[in-house]
Amino acid sequence: MPGETVTLQIGQCGNQVGLQYWSRLALEHGLQADGTTQPYPISEVENHLNDPSTGYRPKRSERDDRLDLFFNLTESNKYTPRAILVDLEPSVVSKATAELPMFNMRNRHLCENGAGAGNNWKHGYEYGLNHQEELIDIIDREVDKCDNLGNFQLIHSIAGGTGSGVGSLLLELLNDRYGEKSLINTFLVFPSNEKASDVVVQPYNTVLTLKRLTEFSNGTFVFDNDALNAIEETSLNYDRNRRFTSKSTAYAEANKLIALALASISNPIRFPSYMYSSMESILLSLVPTNQLKFILTAVVPHKLNEQDIILESINNRYKLNTVTGPVKYITMLNYVIGNNVNQMELKKGLMRINQKVDFVPWCPRSINLVMGKKSPYIRERTSAGLQASNNTSIIHVLNKTLNHYDRLAKREAYINYYTDSNNREEISRVMDWFNECREEVQKVIDEYKQAQDISYLDEVEDYGDDVLDMEEDAQFEDDPSQLL
Ligand code: GTP
Repeated sequence: MPGETVTLQIGQCGNQVGLQYWSRLALEHGLQADGTTQPYPISEVENHLNDPSTGYRPKRSERDDRLDLFFNLTESNKYTPRAILVDLEPSVVSKATAELPMFNMRNRHLCENGAGAGNNWKHGYEYGLNHQEELIDIIDREVDKCDNLGNFQLIHSIAGGTGSGVGSLLLELLNDRYGEKSLINTFLVFPSNEKASDVVVQPYNTVLTLKRLTEFSNGTFVFDNDALNAIEETSLNYDRNRRFTSKSTAYAEANKLIALALASISNPIRFPSYMYSSMESILLSLVPTNQLKFILTAVVPHKLNEQDIILESINNRYKLNTVTGPVKYITMLNYVIGNNVNQMELKKGLMRINQKVDFVPWCPRSINLVMGKKSPYIRERTSAGLQASNNTSIIHVLNKTLNHYDRLAKREAYINYYTDSNNREEISRVMDWFNECREEVQKVIDEYKQAQDISYLDEVEDYGDDVLDMEEDAQFEDDPSQLL
């Protein structure tokens, strides 16, 4: 049975993406900015039956969406996101709550002096440690409103101080407190390579956060600002000739894309049919082992037919992470979101894509399909697509981080940002700890490299039973939708 999702949006990036995400969900469920509902639209089927000659007028449809899994209904009959907003400086959260007053004001956690974490993981983490009781209070209060908590989802950047540091601490807290009962998945934004200079210590922050993610997340969806900036054409009527110029424009467009991806991922949960109606089932089909849990996405625009939607999902220009070189897929979940989907076109697309993509040799060449329902509040007649996949292009994203990290670490550059003194011993201790975290990231890269080998499952003997159990479950659940 699907459970409720509690979202934690952390830091500037987390809250800016979060604002777009909740705006998208509000649109899809017909909510006004203050959380009041618009009447549920008459379904297309009912509308066709409208016949003035016989006097038949369609009745309003009953709601069949599951907005309750993502929103609380308040006593004043308003929907409010099951979301917790955390930042160490107040301006972004203030803007979000002003633009979307449906947010629960009691679910904000802001730093008293509002100075931010200064792009420093350590400041963010220590702040979190010193305020963990307040953070736990807010989380517990939100969890108490759930009948059957399903998962936590964290939205944050990996490079600044708050998203990375407070985010890491929250991962630990959530795992400690709720890890047995619920899943934790994260939506993670990697910084731009081209703009690496805007936060010089971001490779340190990134490596320290990745270490926590490898331990505590059940699935991490990765978005890469370089790829987002490079996307020329999107489902958001993006102007082909316009390049992102200023910071705010870049993030505005990038955030809408991320929000669209996030909303699409949960489409079958919020508009349920018989498949993929919980985050658990989605993660189960995407994450084959605990060591391979990085998920990449591509958003495919409207205005194409079903065959094109499927085919374009492997086109690098729609991918929300940078891809260099050939990609090997481990798992793939293709969403087609629309009504009256042309099954023949869909089948053709699946057959053609199956000939084009390369899977790692030890897993079935199965392209799983999510037939998403379009929100009745969105009147476009066309379908749209999303691909979520576990594939080897994550190696590039992580290698990029480690290259930057190594350049800094070799010279112990800016390490004093993370120490309390210039004492040699302390510097060495901190450097050792950083390098241990680096090694964990290296292990993930190595794991994805090994996963390309036919003998991969033999090499992860310790996890063999888990892998097989999970595969069996996933196969069982996914069978009806496997057209190939
Ligand atoms: P502090 O500023 O240190 O308190 O931490 P923070 O977590 O609030 O920082 P922030 O979220 O700004 O993270 C910094 C990195 O996130 C930047 O290098 C950007 O790459 C990226 N970033 C910041 N805001 C956004 C945003 O709205 N969207 C996207 N896609 N990336 C962002």
